Amino acid sequence: MARRFVFVGGKGGVGKTTVSSALALGCARDGERTLLVSTDPAHSTADVFDQPFSDEPQAVDGHEHLSVLEIDPEREVREHLQELKRELGAQVSPVMVNEVDLQLEMAHRTPGAYEAALFDRFVDVMADAETYDRVVFDTSPTGGTLRLLSLPELLEGWVERLLEKRRESVDLYERAAIGGRTPRRLLEGDPIIDRLETRRERFAFARETLTESSVFALVMNPDSLSLRETERALETLTESGLSVGGVVVNRVTPEPESHEEGRGARYLRERCATERERIREARASLEVPVVAELETRVGEVTGETLERVAEEISLSALAVDS
Ligand SMILES: Nc1ncnc2c1ncn2[C@@H]1O[C@H](COP(=O)(O)OP(=O)(O)O)[C@@H](O)[C@H]1O
Ligand SMILES: [Mg+2]
Repeated sequence: MARRFVFVGGKGGVGKTTVSSALALGCARDGERTLLVSTDPAHSTADVFDQPFSDEPQAVDGHEHLSVLEIDPEREVREHLQELKRELGAQVSPVMVNEVDLQLEMAHRTPGAYEAALFDRFVDVMADAETYDRVVFDTSPTGGTLRLLSLPELLEGWVERLLEKRRESVDLYERAAIGGRTPRRLLEGDPIIDRLETRRERFAFARETLTESSVFALVMNPDSLSLRETERALETLTESGLSVGGVVVNRVTPEPESHEEGRGARYLRERCATERERIREARASLEVPVVAELETRVGEVTGETLERVAEEISLSALAVDS
């Protein structure tokens, strides 16, 4: 099971929550201990399984091997900021505390902060997932997710530079110190260096896990806009060295029977023809396979409908073990 972590990407509303729920359900059905991680602020996973979830993994009623963890991104951002303030506050001199707080507040108002906090939580989940055979992430919309995924590399370089600076200044301090101190000792016990090393290892772990043990599935709808979006997402993921296993086309209009006539049937037939053309285009232009085509259901995709959908998507089609 080389690729235990599955990330389901795509624009808001295309069906990520539906597809990730179905995928997770399918894995659990196959006997894999599965964790579904929901990041949807609307808590739609709770609607899918008709059960409230929380910030702790919770078993899904009526489904063996399946648990759900609900992450509230807003809360993550808040807690992330508090933790950073606490840690840095303990490490800088009192006169610097306000300045550090101000800098952090500002950094947290930038668009990347939301993704950074969420990403940090993903890393926690991945590092702490040994009790699961499979972890399925229902990620936030494409743009944010992609920014988030390029973060470890950026941050690693940043941490590396900070470490270098810190080493230099500690070194200077040591050389300036009068008396017979062992120079290495100061550098080794330095709390800021320790902290930065920990961060760097964490990002290295995250990147390795994302490139070696994760697979991405992109959800799209059979229309031009969604296809273009998927092409862009695929390109960015691939450029980042991430493995995209395939595309799930969701919300395909069911074809009327050939004997059906009338305005409704004509409308559906035309609509189906357009969608078929988009799917054909997707199969031709995308460098990864279309692994499933899911019809638009009459009602919400929950209960038995979700189980039918789960049977239509197979994880093995995503080449998760290659
Ligand atoms: N194949 C489908 N048939 C019927 N309804 C669907 C289907 N896929 C998604 N939906 C509905 O569309 C809405 C958006 O889907 P959702 O999975 O929540 O999208 P996302 O997580 O990408 O925002 C939900 O109400 C969901 O029940
Ligand atoms: Mg969703």
